Amino acid sequence: MRKAVAAETRRDDVAEGSGRETRVRRHAVYGLPPRELVEPAAGAVQLSPLMPGAEAVEDLRDGSLAGVVMAAPPGTIERRHVLAHLLRASAAGAVLVAAAPNDKGGARLAAELAAFGCAPKSESRRHHRIVTARRPEHPAGLDAAIAAGAARHDAGLGHWTQPGVFSWDKIDAGSLLLERHLPPLAGRGADLGCGIGILARAALGRSPAVTALHVVDIDRRAVDCARRNVQDPRARFDWADVRAIAFGAEGLDFVVTNPPFHDGGAEDRALGVAFIRRASEILKRGGRCLLVANRHLPYEAPLGAAFASVRLIAEEGGFKVYEAVR
Ligand SMILES: C[S@@+](CC[C@H](N)C(=O)[O-])C[C@H]1O[C@@H](n2cnc3c(N)ncnc32)[C@H](O)[C@@H]1O
Repeated sequence: MRKAVAAETRRDDVAEGSGRETRVRRHAVYGLPPRELVEPAAGAVQLSPLMPGAEAVEDLRDGSLAGVVMAAPPGTIERRHVLAHLLRASAAGAVLVAAAPNDKGGARLAAELAAFGCAPKSESRRHHRIVTARRPEHPAGLDAAIAAGAARHDAGLGHWTQPGVFSWDKIDAGSLLLERHLPPLAGRGADLGCGIGILARAALGRSPAVTALHVVDIDRRAVDCARRNVQDPRARFDWADVRAIAFGAEGLDFVVTNPPFHDGGAEDRALGVAFIRRASEILKRGGRCLLVANRHLPYEAPLGAAFASVRLIAEEGGFKVYEAVR
């Protein structure tokens, strides 16, 4: 079996930086590159915004990394943004290893790194491209790629958003359908998998009787946008995995959710079912869950198993909205 490409450990951990010496000690990993293809350095610091608690790539000091490996994300603007940040944060000469499936950006990685002034070497294995490059002394185009993928207020959408978060450049039709059919809500609730905060904003905006709303997503960038989009003192924001977070002993009055059905790019119905079970667990008896899902997803059975009653309240444009009562 061929060995995974290992992140290079620099013997010399001091890099030159504009006349003064900059300590370069840290190795980093972005996401979860397949272990059989790429091996992060021992103790590498995690930078993925999809892993609660990870460091933010945006906060790394220029030239502070000695090496980095990454699972390159599929969206082009997002991928170039992250590559540019990683090159910015790497010392001159540090090695970056990026891996992605061929059909999810892998085929473009080498050209993207070459455009930043790198001299990448590429190999293909297991339907992935693994591209290795050294950070050049003077990379090109980093600022533009960083700006293109940064969080911004989209005047057309009327929201803060960022390339890479769910439905970042248009409001999801399912979310819009649930928004239209949201009944008046009251008491304490949660928006599970809040994205940039579309449902949270609607729930709080229309229901003065809501006293508190726990707004949760596993994507740090989405939570940061939601915090800006939902400026309401009743909202509390958490960058967390819905399956693991505690919501307090007392049950909630309501949940709103447009549950994810993709994990790492692949359809994963189990994730949606986990959201349904979690919603039931955190509601008090008689509490209700308002949920929207693609019509093709078989959520009737898990909803029926987790709740006392389930009612279809809307069906349109390939989506279904349910009200499930605990
Ligand atoms: C279908 S999107 C809905 C987003 C938003 N509620 C909307 O309607 O626009 C599902 C969201 O769940 C988030 N998510 C996925 N897995 C999660 C998990 N385990 N815990 C918390 N959020 C998760 C995704 O990042 C995504 O923002």
